[in-house]
Amino acid sequence: MSPLFIPGPVEVAEEVLAAQTQPMLAHRSAAFEELFHRAEGNARKVFQTKSRVFILPASGTGFQEATMRNLVRGRVLVCVNGAFSTRWQQVAQTNGKQVDVLEVDWRKPIPPDMVAEKVKKQKYDLVAIVHNETSTGLLNPVAEVAMAVHANSPDTLVAVDAVSSLGGANLEMDAWGLDVVFTSSQKALALPPGLTLGAVNERAMARAEEVPNRGWYFDFIRLEKHRTANTTPTTPAVSLIYALDLQLKRILEEGLPQRFERHLRMAQYTRAWATGRGFGLYAPQGYRSPTITTVENLLDVDLSAMISYLKQRGMVIASGYGSLKQSTFRIGNMGEISLDDLDNLLETINEFLDKGN
Ligand SMILES: Cc1ncc(COP(=O)(O)O)c(C=O)c1O
Repeated sequence: MSPLFIPGPVEVAEEVLAAQTQPMLAHRSAAFEELFHRAEGNARKVFQTKSRVFILPASGTGFQEATMRNLVRGRVLVCVNGAFSTRWQQVAQTNGKQVDVLEVDWRKPIPPDMVAEKVKKQKYDLVAIVHNETSTGLLNPVAEVAMAVHANSPDTLVAVDAVSSLGGANLEMDAWGLDVVFTSSQKALALPPGLTLGAVNERAMARAEEVPNRGWYFDFIRLEKHRTANTTPTTPAVSLIYALDLQLKRILEEGLPQRFERHLRMAQYTRAWATGRGFGLYAPQGYRSPTITTVENLLDVDLSAMISYLKQRGMVIASGYGSLKQSTFRIGNMGEISLDDLDNLLETINEFLDKGN
């Protein structure tokens, strides 16, 4: 049974947790290089890319910062329709970049035609977009947005935050023309927190070469120099890389299409339950996330009482994020969760509601 139905950290399989207890390796050793090389190769398969994947000891916000430091000389356009794209905008601004924001109603996806208009009018080094807005449970049409950018401004790069989707929802980095895609370990990859993984293509590497003041820790050029020798510029999180190595194998053994289908089925089940009970769904039809459902509290249920009731029974769901805290709650179905786990959770919520709460 999976008690954590939150959008990260999520449950980690026993054998993956256990993989972290293997003896420490010197990171300048052949054994580490072999481990790191294998993990990176398998990570590329999960990102559906032939490009390099940087594996860093940081959380996903670190890679949000890395994109701004490495890819923006002039202006960046940040597409905003939720709390995590708002954070990315702040990351860009606090790194001193010239930031334009395309913000739409948080209940709506980012419209590719509006992005096309923006990049036609103004030259941008980068368009930044979140694939899966974890606050609203909305999946943005990143393939269409990337197409709109490339068709209208061929030199503009597209970076995608796939923190709460990669490994749980289909995302085809190369086929969709995405220049950078990144995630965190503690979400649909179902690993402990502590790693960020970011895939960076040749166009983005070429841009980084031209950007001054990339900083040190997240400098793509420095990371690449070490990656090509199957190592890292700074001390890697060796235990987490053991876990990553095993978990990537498990993900590929399940099969990406099968894994995406499993996540989607669970999200559909949650949506049907929510609307069946008279709740609403925050995200619009056609753009609902397969990894997290943001449920609108149309029934005026006492959410803190409901969350406590579940907690007493060993289950954790998420309250609404930020400004949506009072009006929504969120049910995540990332990683190791099964339909049976979800059924058990929803039955317990039914029990709470049927008591007249
Ligand atoms: C879409 C999205 N982007 C970025 C982040 C930040 O990730 P981290 O907490 O790993 O820094 C989150 C965290 O929930 C997220 O959901």
